[in-house]
Amino acid sequence: MITDKRIGVLAGGTSAEREVSLKSGSAVYKALSGLGYDAVFIDVSDGVCEKLRQEGIDIAFIVLHGGHGENGAIQGLLEVMGIPYTGSGILASALAMDKEAAKMVFLHHDIPVAPYIVVRKKDVCGHDRINSQMVTALADFPLPWVVKPATEGSSIGVNIVREEGDIADALKEAFAYGDRVLVEEFIKGKEVQIAILDNRSLGGVEVRPLREFYDFEAKYTPGLTNYILPPEISELTYDVLKALALRAHTVLGCRGATRVDFIVDESNNPFLLEVNTIPGMTETSLLPKIARSAKIEFPDLIEKILASAIHGEI
Ligand SMILES: Nc1ncnc2c1ncn2[C@@H]1O[C@H](COP(=O)(O)OP(=O)(O)O)[C@@H](O)[C@H]1O
Ligand SMILES: [Mg+2]
Repeated sequence: MITDKRIGVLAGGTSAEREVSLKSGSAVYKALSGLGYDAVFIDVSDGVCEKLRQEGIDIAFIVLHGGHGENGAIQGLLEVMGIPYTGSGILASALAMDKEAAKMVFLHHDIPVAPYIVVRKKDVCGHDRINSQMVTALADFPLPWVVKPATEGSSIGVNIVREEGDIADALKEAFAYGDRVLVEEFIKGKEVQIAILDNRSLGGVEVRPLREFYDFEAKYTPGLTNYILPPEISELTYDVLKALALRAHTVLGCRGATRVDFIVDESNNPFLLEVNTIPGMTETSLLPKIARSAKIEFPDLIEKILASAIHGEI
C-alpha cells in the first residue's frame, strides 16, 4: 500500500457519459478495496462539495468522463478544497477536453491532425435555420466530413457527412451539445489508440468497429467492435504513434494515465484525434487492456494512477 489515507472514488456526474463513469468507478472502487485501501465511492451528481466534506476524504480518485469531471472544473474545486487528485491538472484537463484548443496546441508542436474548421453557432444559426452554405464554402478539404461538438466525448453528437446536403442536420445535432462544432476531413484508415502511463507509452490497440465508425453503440455494445492487440500496423508506424502520443500527452501537460486516439490513413500518415485524460476504467476498457498487454494488471494500474495524486508533479 502506498497510502493509508482515505480515498474518494469520484464517479457518475451529470454529463452524458454518467453511466459509463459509474461502471468505471465501481471497477476502481473494487480494485482499491481489494488492495486494502480505505476507499469510498462517491456519486458526484449534486451537492458535490458537501459530499466531499461529509466523507472526509484525503485523496480523490477521479473516474468522471466528460463535462465538469474531465474539463478541469472538478479538478479546480478539489484544488480549492486542498484535496489532492489523480490524473491531469486544471489546464491540461481543460485543453484536452476542448478539441479546438487542443488542436491549436498540437499544431504548434507539429503533431498532425485532420484538416478542420471550427463553426460557431452565432455565425451560422439564425431564424431557426442553419446557414450550411457558409460552412461548405469554408471547408477547403474534400468530403466526407466528420462533424463533432468541440467539448463532448464517447462519440456523442458525432456524425459523418457524405453529401453536402446533409451538413445542416449534422450541425444541428452537434450544436445541441455546445456552441462550437468542428468539421473535419474524414480520414479513411485504421483507428489506433495508445495508452500513456507516467510519461511512458505502454502500447496500443487497434479498434475495428463493425459500424460506419467508432460511435457510441460501437464503443459500449459488446460484439460491435473488434479489438486487435497489438495493432496491425508496421513496427515503424507503431513507434511513430507511440512517440506522437507521448508528445501530445506532454505538450498538454497531462499527468497519470491518458489514452491518445489516432487514425492512420492508407499511406501510413498518422492523424491525432484527441487525448482522453480520464479514459474508461472498467476491467475490459481499452487502457486497462493495453496495460495488461504491457504486464500491468488492473490493480497495479489503479495503484500507479493513485500514485499520480500523491506525487503531484508532472
Ligand atoms: N477525422 C476523422 N476521420 C475519421 N474518423 C473520425 C474522425 N474524427 C472522428 N472520427 C471517428 O469518430 C470517433 C469519435 O471521435 P473523437 O474525435 O475521438 O471524439 P470523442 O471525444 O467523442 O471520442 C472516432 O473514434 C472515430 O471513429
Ligand atoms: Mg475519442
